[in-house]
Amino acid sequence: MPELVPILKRDEIARKVKAIAKAISSDYKGRQLVLIGVLKGAFIFLSDLVRHLDLEDVKIDFLRAASYGEGTCSSETIHLIKDIDTDIRDKDVLIVEDILDTGLTLTFLIKHLKAHGPKSIRTCAFIDKSERRKVGLSADYVGHKVKEGFLVGYGLDFAEAYRNLPDIYHLKID
Ligand code: IMP
Ligand code: MG
Repeated sequence: MPELVPILKRDEIARKVKAIAKAISSDYKGRQLVLIGVLKGAFIFLSDLVRHLDLEDVKIDFLRAASYGEGTCSSETIHLIKDIDTDIRDKDVLIVEDILDTGLTLTFLIKHLKAHGPKSIRTCAFIDKSERRKVGLSADYVGHKVKEGFLVGYGLDFAEAYRNLPDIYHLKID
């Protein structure tokens, strides 16, 4: 049986989400912002985040990417499964991810969205996991940093399970 070791409780998650929302609200004050959530993992984080933004003009869209490859091998390629339908030309865009791991997904998504001609693109990841990073990328807004481990809960899944858990756990499989 997999073991779930708690690493971040819901009250601490809420505190960190509010801190990110405060920083974003201050940085984008008086501007239009388009938030683009990366499905499926970011759906809970994004829904919490947007309700704490103190901004008047916020739009929300989603896209979905998937990677195929040998897990840790560098030949992994990212594919777009669902694109946005919002016009982001000349708009300030913030990509919202559940977790930044190798960095390949966000790198791919930034390149893809730049082709739509936005005014700016920044990135926000609730968790920044550093150990497996393959590209020199860091998110502009981060909720919590971890070095390693496979995490589940608060949108994060293992084989589509555990996304609904309100706390975040380290999943240990023996
Ligand atoms: P990256 O391209 O390696 O940065 O991958 C980011 C994506 O991998 C995330 O959006 C997650 O879907 C998935 N992922 C990476 N690490 C974890 C984890 O610890 N738990 C659950 N999903 C993860
Ligand atoms: Mg994901």
